Amino acid sequence: MKINIDTIVKDNKELIREKSENVRLPLSDDDKETLMSLYHYVVDSTDPEKMKKENLRPAVGIAAIQVGIKKKMIAIVIKGEDDKIIYQYALANPRIVSHSVEEAYLANGEGCLSVESEHEGYIYRHRRIKVKAYDLLQDKEVIIKASDYLAIVFQHELDHFNGILFYDHINKENPFFVKKEAFRIE
Ligand code: NI
Repeated sequence: MKINIDTIVKDNKELIREKSENVRLPLSDDDKETLMSLYHYVVDSTDPEKMKKENLRPAVGIAAIQVGIKKKMIAIVIKGEDDKIIYQYALANPRIVSHSVEEAYLANGEGCLSVESEHEGYIYRHRRIKVKAYDLLQDKEVIIKASDYLAIVFQHELDHFNGILFYDHINKENPFFVKKEAFRIE
């Protein structure tokens, strides 16, 4: 499957609001192929050359519903300095099994491949989470402890399983309402 800006389902389509179903394990060849396409999209999306040539928009995560497949699969790739990959996952059936009471938010807000218009404001999420999933990259069941930025990316992607978009969480009356006890991530 070739994924690019034009093939990604945007928020003007009702489909993006639909719920995703658990995917059967072990993964079928079709599901593996979808999940690897999601993974490769995210890896390639921050490569300046491929970005231009293949019409990609930079992302750290993507969910299967964003390519029109209503199955609980996501890919997350976070790079650090020198473009080195720090975290990478291609997950089936990820779910949060525990989380902190403490919240965190991104000072610059969130973005999404399915959202083309500006939506400014703070989104409060759990600062720390524990996620269980099957990881295709490691070919095993994993428990991932995520905090701060990574935890936020996870929660954003998992929201897609319920048709929830990041701006649904923004306070309509006061988008930049500050919860003093929440951890701010610059
Ligand atoms: Ni998104």
